[in-house]
Amino acid sequence: MLIAGNWKMYKGPSEALAFCRAFVPPEGVEIVVCPPFSALREAMATGLTVFAQNVHWEREGAFTGEVSAEMLLELGVAGSIVGHSERRRYFGETDETTARRAKRALDAGLAVVACVGELEEERERGETPAVLHRQVSVLPRHERLVVAYEPVWAIGTGKTATPEIAQQAHGLIKTILDAPVLYGGSVKPENAEELLVQRDVDGALVGGASLDIDSFTAICETAARLSRS
Ligand code: PGA
Repeated sequence: MLIAGNWKMYKGPSEALAFCRAFVPPEGVEIVVCPPFSALREAMATGLTVFAQNVHWEREGAFTGEVSAEMLLELGVAGSIVGHSERRRYFGETDETTARRAKRALDAGLAVVACVGELEEERERGETPAVLHRQVSVLPRHERLVVAYEPVWAIGTGKTATPEIAQQAHGLIKTILDAPVLYGGSVKPENAEELLVQRDVDGALVGGASLDIDSFTAICETAARLSRS
């Protein structure tokens, strides 16, 4: 079981350091925090496993605003998220660029959490299986690849997919690609258990609730308890 906290554009170096110092990770569950680039070093200094939120597909070059896998590895970062729906929506990320980022990062030695998920109107039109197929089939096969199923309509909206919806999507993703699949989208202490007990839910990618130490700890403790049982 893996619980990853995606902090998005929250927490600068001092806040990240204070959070990571105070956070006591429960035993028996893999935990990752994903701070903004500027706080990676502080988070890592506390001994937690740290992933970036994005990574470029070239080693170096004229790519203003981007950071390469080698640069992350030099810092000691263990992995990166790629293809988050906010990257797709606001920064023109596509299935193709997501796959390129994932491939390069994996080849360089990072772990990758690749995000997929349908929009609300795609779900309403019954297109979820086709969308997931399109997004997942381009991802590279690799032992360090983890997929995160994040239905876009459930991110930051308070609308969580029902456990049945999550299970169905995760099962489908696993028929396309054999990798662990995290659920993401309004995961909080109150709904973590019902999602994490689903057969094909291998963990969670937590946004908003990972910013607060008590709610993130509670989710991690739920995951640890379920892993032990
Ligand atoms: P949320 O975000 O938990 O705030 O819905 C999840 C994510 O975007 O990874």
